[in-house]
Amino acid sequence: MSDVPAATPASIVEALKAVAGNPPKVRASFAKGWCVRGTYTPSDRAGKVTRSQSFTRPSRVLARFSVGGGNPDVADTNNLVLRGFSFKLGDDDHRSDILVESAPVHFARTLDQMLAFLEARMPGHDGKPDMAKLKAFSAANPETLNQANYIAARLLPGSLAGTTYWGVHSFPATNAENETRFIKFKVAPARGEITLSADEARTKPADFLRDELGSRIATGHVRFNVMALLDRPGDPTMDVTMRWPDEDDREEVRLGTIVITGFEPDSACDASIFNPANLADGIGYPPDEIFAARCAAYTISLAKRR
Ligand code: HEM
Repeated sequence: MSDVPAATPASIVEALKAVAGNPPKVRASFAKGWCVRGTYTPSDRAGKVTRSQSFTRPSRVLARFSVGGGNPDVADTNNLVLRGFSFKLGDDDHRSDILVESAPVHFARTLDQMLAFLEARMPGHDGKPDMAKLKAFSAANPETLNQANYIAARLLPGSLAGTTYWGVHSFPATNAENETRFIKFKVAPARGEITLSADEARTKPADFLRDELGSRIATGHVRFNVMALLDRPGDPTMDVTMRWPDEDDREEVRLGTIVITGFEPDSACDASIFNPANLADGIGYPPDEIFAARCAAYTISLAKRR
């Protein structure tokens, strides 16, 4: 990677935009999406994990569901892109923004690796990436395929309301007794996963997700459990390309429930950002270097899409 200059949040945003063909006035990532509102109701166990009043008190929720990548016209039937879910909990004094996506790992461990990953996917004159370069990069950086392999092994999500979303990073959570441990966020659909077989997916229009969500909202069926997966000593908390050992079998605590109740105008979500660094006391910043870059990247992307 010696020929790649040191990555910054700004160069990553440039690269995210360039890989998507520089569509104007849209998010650099998760460009396609829908703004919604809802409610959050805490469980009686939330306080055992975090004293954050964003999680221990009921609140209104502003949220956005999205489809991955920087192309706002990406087809909802594309099974190579992530689904995203961003939400704001709490009140003005105790606000937390949580951003989760439909894979439990990120595609790069460091910022330099993230930039190199994007450079390797940059379209050439023919509109396609250089496949030999991409293959060589993947062979030298196998952990950058963990996310794509995770999605490829799963059926296409059939509903934004029937997808499990992950916070990926290890977040330090401090409870009312002042005990701190790492947690991972998992946001799971209360009625289980909704998937489409390859045959079913072929019958769907390219933009089926919004209407699908609308009909589920109308019947009151868009409900998610916000879970905290609990750490064990020795968990890898610095590497966002890796899951914790036996992560699917972890002890987990339901912090609360989000119910999505309606659409909001796009402007309600587009005027500012869901800022990963907005975390009310009781949830701290993950220690990895990817997290540290996110707040600046989102602010740069906001300036570009205004
Ligand atoms: C674990 C890692 C990550 C997760 C789970 C994640 C998730 C998301 C989600 C859900 C959105 C959509 C936000 C919305 O609906 O407004 C988003 C947007 C975005 N992400 Fe990430 N992301 C991750 C890492 C990163 C990193 C490392 C960078 C860059 C250094 C980055 C750059 C961006 C940018 C620029 C946007 C558009 C922000 C805006 O214009 O509002 N993301 N991300």
